[in-house]
Amino acid sequence: MWWRDRPFELDPSIRRAWLRVEGLSAGYGPIPVLRDVRFEVKPGLTVILGPNGAGKTTLLRALNGLIPRRGLVLLDGEELEEKTHEIVRAGVTLVPEGRQLFPQMTVRENLELGGWLFAKPVRERRIAEVMANFPKLRERSSQLAGTMSGGEQQMVALARAMMGAPRLLMLDEPSLGLAPRMVDELLAMARRIADAGTTVLMVEQNVKKALAVADRGYVLERGALVASGPAKLLARSTVVREAYLGAESADTTTSSNAANDRRGASLRSS
Ligand SMILES: Nc1ncnc2c1ncn2[C@@H]1O[C@H](COP(=O)(O)OP(=O)(O)O)[C@@H](O)[C@H]1O
Ligand SMILES: [Mg+2]
Repeated sequence: MWWRDRPFELDPSIRRAWLRVEGLSAGYGPIPVLRDVRFEVKPGLTVILGPNGAGKTTLLRALNGLIPRRGLVLLDGEELEEKTHEIVRAGVTLVPEGRQLFPQMTVRENLELGGWLFAKPVRERRIAEVMANFPKLRERSSQLAGTMSGGEQQMVALARAMMGAPRLLMLDEPSLGLAPRMVDELLAMARRIADAGTTVLMVEQNVKKALAVADRGYVLERGALVASGPAKLLARSTVVREAYLGAESADTTTSSNAANDRRGASLRSS
């Protein structure tokens, strides 16, 4: 097992982060990608689904200050800073697509870099705490990150992000390219982090599994949100079943389920 049975511990005095986004637009130079996106990330686990090229990574990059954005981004009612290091200080951390570890550095050194905000004694304490939550990494602390399997590297990336004790953790396709068992472990880890009090916003292509662990979800298509709702209702909604779960998952839905879909999942056309 990758984790202990006890969940991540977070300082109970820390208020659970709540992100509100209104009229968000972002893109690359003259090319617009996101158009007037409005959504909320409440405490818990929120997933963003959508096809390749929809703008999911762009959305996380805009929130993390890696590309310019327009619109309103409020973290607990206060406007989020625009520069990445200020955003990190505000408690928002992104685990980017492809993990981006330092392959020639050890697991421990990668974790130390995740604690750059802290003075050395605090950093040492954080390392001990994170190692306790990722016991497998403690065993591997002197292994070079580049020699680990994809799933192990994703674990290091997650642990490195937790070094900063984020209040809002953003994960960009954490399960990409992993074996099914590792996908389950990674998603279970994201769930535990959310349960322990860190608000999680996760982009995933693994629609069925992501909706099974998430509280809420959004569907992004061509730079606009086209559906949203509680994860259980989204999983049953026509838009998700037809476009993302394929025919084999489109099990017989009763008419009362269909009515629930219409009530619970607000579907907007783009
Ligand atoms: N660095 C970039 N420069 C220009 N266009 C980009 C860049 N990165 C992504 N794009 C474009 O932005 C759109 C959204 O990409 P992305 O956010 O990566 O989608 P997703 O993560 O949903 O697959 C795509 O059309 C993509 O080609
Ligand atoms: Mg992406």
